[in-house]
Amino acid sequence: MSLITLGIESSCDETGIALYQMGRGLLAHALHTQVAMHSEYGGVVPELASRDHVRRIIPLLRQVMHAADVSLARIDAIAYTQGPGLGGALLVGASVANALAYALDIPVIGIHHLEGHLLSPLLSDPAPEFPFVALLVSGGHTQLMRVDGVGQYTLLGETLDDAAGEAFDKSAKLLGLDYPGGPALAKLAASGRSGQYKLPRPMLHSGNLDFSFSGLKTAVWTLAKQSDHHEQTRADIACAVQEAIIDVLTHKARAALAQTGLNRLVVAGGVGANRLLRNRLNEDIGKRGGAVFYPDLEFCTDNGAMIAFAGALRLAQQQGDKDYRFNVKPRWNLAEITN
Ligand code: KG4
Ligand code: ZN
Repeated sequence: MSLITLGIESSCDETGIALYQMGRGLLAHALHTQVAMHSEYGGVVPELASRDHVRRIIPLLRQVMHAADVSLARIDAIAYTQGPGLGGALLVGASVANALAYALDIPVIGIHHLEGHLLSPLLSDPAPEFPFVALLVSGGHTQLMRVDGVGQYTLLGETLDDAAGEAFDKSAKLLGLDYPGGPALAKLAASGRSGQYKLPRPMLHSGNLDFSFSGLKTAVWTLAKQSDHHEQTRADIACAVQEAIIDVLTHKARAALAQTGLNRLVVAGGVGANRLLRNRLNEDIGKRGGAVFYPDLEFCTDNGAMIAFAGALRLAQQQGDKDYRFNVKPRWNLAEITN
């Protein structure tokens, strides 16, 4: 019987639990998002996040075990997000994972959150083959990586300041939209008119694969301040913001494929849920004979499935152990886990 891995994600404002079985795939998964709780404050409040993970994690675990009709005794290993993320939030998942693994006398493994995102498109059908270029676009990270296999990651370029998700979120806030701003801004942009406002495309022609989004935020701030606050004006600005971010992401992704000579692009992380980004990449990369792969929409944003899956792949490489002492890594560079 193939191994069953339990995955636990608690790095930010989502508690995610999943069971993955090698050869069979995802058995069950569940997610609790804290968006409603944090929206009152306009962003994630770390202490509230930790406390909510504590409240949700065991009921979610029970729910997943029940849905998969699997008993605790059937679990072969536990994977949890060890970092990067909020220290207190990470500690909740790490302590539950280690305590449960200790009680069951099974191996435990700490997973890098971005590795989870990076490998999540492999959960879909068709799954991309190695090697590929990954465009990681989340609330905290914007990176282009070359991926040659599990644990074989080479950084090609990254943002020098704000992440793409952050650019969405901060612009949304300036337009008076609720947290999390990305999806709200995309929705508002749908009724906006293209070309009404011109926004900078930072580092578009920098000649390398790095990004910068902080100048965009300043430009949006200036625009928002001068605007008449009419719904149509706000929609037009939202449209310009979305186009600027997508232009830069598409241009750099294309350049990364050209530089590496690869033709497969994998898009992962919350911003990968953006419809227009998907359309633009499909068209642009497709035109050049490339193929673009995405995780299923529900696995774009934070979830337990990607952690269970990354854990299963790592365990297949003989990683994980029964040393139940643990720490979390709120700041953790993906390069450190390259084999
Ligand atoms: O990967 P993720 O769930 O969490 C992190 O690890 O950061 O990404 C969250 C980010 C947020 O910045 C959110 O606004 C953005 O992804 N996002 C979107 C969309 N859905 C989520 N941005 C643009 N368009 C969307 N549809
Ligand atoms: Zn994430």
